[in-house]
Amino acid sequence: MANKPAPTAVPIHELIAGRWSPRAYSSEPVSREHLHAVLEAARWAPSSYNLQPWRFMVFDRSADEVSFKRAFATLVPFNQGWNAPAPVLIAATTHTLTNKGEINRCAPYDTGAAAMALVLQAHALGLAAHQMSGFDVNAFRKAFAIPDDVEVIAMISLGHFGEVDKLDPVLREREKSVRTRLPLSDIAFSGAWKKAF
Ligand SMILES: Cc1cc2nc3c(=O)[nH]c(=O)nc-3n(C[C@H](O)[C@H](O)[C@H](O)COP(=O)(O)O)c2cc1C
Repeated sequence: MANKPAPTAVPIHELIAGRWSPRAYSSEPVSREHLHAVLEAARWAPSSYNLQPWRFMVFDRSADEVSFKRAFATLVPFNQGWNAPAPVLIAATTHTLTNKGEINRCAPYDTGAAAMALVLQAHALGLAAHQMSGFDVNAFRKAFAIPDDVEVIAMISLGHFGEVDKLDPVLREREKSVRTRLPLSDIAFSGAWKKAF
């Protein structure tokens, strides 16, 4: 199931409306060319002072199964379940300090922007991408000797769309359900706090 467009209130670009977070993967590897493209999209994200604090660690099962398995082992059991066939995991990490050694308070914001560029590029290529916070950050830090001034923010699984019917019944229903969001009046204010746009 490759398409589950957002039921938007007004028309928006297909790339944004069409991106979603699927859980049904096939085990087909992602080509090197496509991996390069999603990382290139992330590279061109904007950032505060153009510091580009993001660092992405790619775990490609077809290229390095040992590292892939070590990263996969840090996922919480729920995420391990539906990611079992996924061919690629990408850890989104960020440098927390500026070049002057001060806290870069925009680092997570910038890294989220880069991750969004990555998943949008994946969608544009017809790939499935799913961001996750459900993993053991400390176990990941230990497994890959992440330096103290780097924060590990999220994992992103990447692959080709698989068969929804192979998911367990609960996830199968979730995969088919309509995507929802808070109403615009809850998230956009006009000139004053909580004055709905
Ligand atoms: C930072 C972040 C962490 C997430 N963590 C998980 C996760 O651990 N497991 C999961 O199944 N989905 C996870 N998701 C996916 C969200 O549940 C999903 O984006 C949300 O329900 C909206 O659905 P959509 O992306 O299809 O529009 C995460 C998404 C983000 C952005």
